[in-house]
Amino acid sequence: MSSGFDARRFKAMERAGFNRIAGRYADGAHLRAELATALIDAAALAPGQRVLDLASGPGLLALEAAGRVSPNGLVLATDIAEGMLAEGARRIEGSGIEVRDLEDKGVGDQGVADKGVDLLFAAADAEHLCLPDASIDRVLAGLALFMFPHPDRALAEIHRVLVPGGQVALSVWGARDTVPLISRAQDCIARLLPPPKVQRPSVFRYGDAGVLEAMLVDAGFGQVRITPCDFSCCFDSAEDYWQAFLDLAGGAAEALSRLPEPTRQALQAAVSADLEAHPRSDGKPGFCVPARALVASAVRSG
Ligand SMILES: C[S@@+](CC[C@H](N)C(=O)[O-])C[C@H]1O[C@@H](n2cnc3c(N)ncnc32)[C@H](O)[C@@H]1O
Repeated sequence: MSSGFDARRFKAMERAGFNRIAGRYADGAHLRAELATALIDAAALAPGQRVLDLASGPGLLALEAAGRVSPNGLVLATDIAEGMLAEGARRIEGSGIEVRDLEDKGVGDQGVADKGVDLLFAAADAEHLCLPDASIDRVLAGLALFMFPHPDRALAEIHRVLVPGGQVALSVWGARDTVPLISRAQDCIARLLPPPKVQRPSVFRYGDAGVLEAMLVDAGFGQVRITPCDFSCCFDSAEDYWQAFLDLAGGAAEALSRLPEPTRQALQAAVSADLEAHPRSDGKPGFCVPARALVASAVRSG
């Protein structure tokens, strides 16, 4: 981490940014549907399990997991951005799944509903989980590990709350040159704006499978499996691409929202030019921009 980096400030920025985009985040979920499916499949979910969806955003993975751990399962969605959780609870109203908050039910409670599944939402920093040791069977962490200032602390927490034999399944972005979906926008930002006074941790920092595996092993996990997931996101226009980027990148969205309008327009124009490298293959107007993510699963052995 660069000198001058302030983890608390960084988290506050991420929280503000993800609260800002909470209402729109789920609208882009279809773009990453393949990745979500790969992560859920990697988690080996089964009826009756207690699942933690860490840094859940609006709980899209949590909702999918709820279907897999029913009957008798429990899913807890936690995030640092409370607006994301509120949006998640709002979106699943009427889905037939019971939504509660932690004041209604203690986690680790053996008396969870004897049919159906409970889905709970609770604000939490991934680096400091208020959960008992060995109380969770599966942890999901979609596109999150690289967001944490101290990912080792988050992995230690995941390890602590998992039961022995419990499993984590997570996804991270691949190496920078494999994720034009993010790097195109970032390159334009780097070209047009002055360098930030304090460098943010890179979202590509676990894009090397060896680095990710070492992190998991250092945190005490075994049976590490890492698989690439390649997908492509198609947009009708450069404006749609730019909006999708902002709707995914909380902290960046927060910082960019503070720029004067002419600068934001210049950025959009630069993105538009760079996207010419990704025309649709069917010749229609618009762009298809590739992305690689890594999906990892690992087991708490002891
Ligand atoms: C890119 S979103 C991923 C959301 C969801 N896991 C998914 O796969 O769609 C990253 C999420 O991490 C959350 N986040 C960032 N820093 C966090 C922290 N320190 N603790 C908990 N959540 C955090 C953000 O608020 C945001 O909802």
